[in-house]
Amino acid sequence: MDNTLQIYTENLIREKGRMTFAEFMDIALYHEGLGYYQRENPFGQQGSFYTSVNASESFGRTLAKSFVYMMNELGLEKALCEMGAGSGMLANDILNYLKQNEKELYDTVSYTIIEKSGYLINRQKELIEKEHKGKVRWIPFEELNDFSGVFYSNELVDAFPVHRVIRMNGELKELYVKEIDGKMQFFPDEFSTPMLQSYLDNINLKVTETQIVDINLDLVRWIEAMADKMNRAVMVTIDYGFEAPMLYQSYRRDGTVTCYYRHTQNNDFFERIGYQDITAFVDFTSLSLYGQKKGLSPLAFMPQWLYLVQSGILEEISAAKTDLQKQSIKALIMPEGGFGTNFQVFLQGKNIDITPDFKYTQSAKEVLDNMGKIFSS
Ligand SMILES: C[S@@+](CC[C@H](N)C(=O)[O-])C[C@H]1O[C@@H](n2cnc3c(N)ncnc32)[C@H](O)[C@@H]1O
Repeated sequence: MDNTLQIYTENLIREKGRMTFAEFMDIALYHEGLGYYQRENPFGQQGSFYTSVNASESFGRTLAKSFVYMMNELGLEKALCEMGAGSGMLANDILNYLKQNEKELYDTVSYTIIEKSGYLINRQKELIEKEHKGKVRWIPFEELNDFSGVFYSNELVDAFPVHRVIRMNGELKELYVKEIDGKMQFFPDEFSTPMLQSYLDNINLKVTETQIVDINLDLVRWIEAMADKMNRAVMVTIDYGFEAPMLYQSYRRDGTVTCYYRHTQNNDFFERIGYQDITAFVDFTSLSLYGQKKGLSPLAFMPQWLYLVQSGILEEISAAKTDLQKQSIKALIMPEGGFGTNFQVFLQGKNIDITPDFKYTQSAKEVLDNMGKIFSS
């Protein structure tokens, strides 16, 4: 394992005296050429973790169905924008579905990707342009403006760098990364920015003694910027996490930020820098509150299993040819060990009025009742 990034980061910390965990995480994940998302394919079997996209192409097919439904039902412009597209598989699965099942829409839809990693942009182009040459345009985030259509992301926000806050002797402190006795360690000190206190105040969070909470300030910057960039659009944010009261419960004493190295979870944050993923659960309450302040209305919030069932994933299971395929699709909606429960889907809208029968406002009970009827007929 080449340790150039490890040495670079440690030297920088020595030079500066310390850095916030968010600064550290940004280097570890996104350093140009050496960060985790900048240097090798981190996804799937050869990488560090799986996302729903790797589990089955039915994930992309089902999302495609949901986007088509929203465009038709809400009379949206025929435009899709994906942010944080990883290997490009999700975009490819969605475009394959549209090409095979919605040819007219496929021919007219505009598809945009916003991706931070130059390395991944090349991977995405390689994959997508085989079947869909000229269909997708890649733009930097700054160039997204006046967007109408469906904007979506899967596991984007969990990859934003987070700050770490702890309560010690009754006082809130930020945890910095610092060299102590020749080793990189956490070190508590005053907050690096007043935004941390206003974030805590905004969700009315009382941190208990010695509890650590992870605060995603890029989530705030992102959703505020998004609100300005949307014209008439629905935002679909899929990620693992919870609403703030659940996410920041005092029994989660050590926060939720964690690392994945070759499919094994660990909390050795300062090891294997650039070779392991670092990620934290998403606070959907803040996404909603900061969005609302800027004119994004919350439309629906539900676990992934419910969204996928409402969007037609059960048909995918019935149509699957092999047991293995069926199992992979079920993993997307299964509670235990699957992507079904910790993963949430949050719909926010700018200038959107939903109709009373907009299907994502159905309760889990209604959906389960309907499923019961389907299975018993
Ligand atoms: C955990 S991966 C998820 C990839 C893919 N959506 C999937 O589900 O497999 C996070 C992705 O978001 C990208 N990303 C992170 N921060 C970003 C930002 N600020 N702008 C654009 N892309 C970003 C990463 O480079 C990576 O492609």
